[in-house]
Amino acid sequence: TNIILLGPPGAGKGTQARRLVEERGLVQLSTGDMLREAKDSGTEMGKIVADVMARGDLVTDEIVIGLIEEKLDGEKVGGFIFDGFPRTLAQADALGALLARKGETLDAVIEMRVDDAALVDRISGRFTCGACGEVYHDTTKPTKIEGACDECGSTDLKRRADDNAESLRQRLMEYYKKTSPLIGYYYHAGNLATVDGLAAIDDVAKSVAAVLDR
Ligand code: AP5
Ligand code: ZN
Repeated sequence: TNIILLGPPGAGKGTQARRLVEERGLVQLSTGDMLREAKDSGTEMGKIVADVMARGDLVTDEIVIGLIEEKLDGEKVGGFIFDGFPRTLAQADALGALLARKGETLDAVIEMRVDDAALVDRISGRFTCGACGEVYHDTTKPTKIEGACDECGSTDLKRRADDNAESLRQRLMEYYKKTSPLIGYYYHAGNLATVDGLAAIDDVAKSVAAVLDR
């Protein structure tokens, strides 16, 4: 099973992807996580992308397609969850070509629909465990013990550099200009499914499961 989670910043793509990894043994490919790793490890590419990401602009197609290609060329797995990729029509075409080359299919594109007002709330309350990557929210998904990750106990909880009002505005603009055309693209390809991303995390997970088990 290869699936794409499509949706604006804060729609809950990462949250649902992590659940699918646990529940279905799929492999999460988040280009955002890969780019943040490159930034943190201080590679040449990391230095190039850091400012672009902090502003909320999209990184070039060439860089992200290269990252995905590297992962797809690795060992064979049960399936991939593409989280935050593709984000442009060029990336969607490239993914189609890469999958075809490997004899793989794209089984579902799940659009997570959330309105802008809710996104601001989601993004401003988000924090992440630096050790295991678990995603939390100040009000909708707090840690059980304050200051420590439920999953691994780490106290390295952090907020993202681009989770501020100004960068979020730019991320949303980029989404509507460059990424939202993919909804029509995949609708016409016949594999688009839409779920209500405004529902509670467990209910969104149920809608996603219903799409995958249809
Ligand atoms: P990326 O890391 O992909 O960020 P994003 O798309 O902005 O998505 P987010 O990670 O912000 O949100 P999410 O949908 O995963 O939501 P989450 O589950 O965390 O990209 C960052 C940057 O990298 C881009 O701006 C760009 O510069 C670059 N980049 C990445 N990929 C690229 C590409 N392909 N091409 C070019 N550039 C690229 O949830 C958000 C919050 O809400 C959390 O606090 C969570 O706990 C909470 N929450 C989740 N679900 C619910 C729910 N149902 N109810 C209540 N709260 C919820
Ligand atoms: Zn953790």
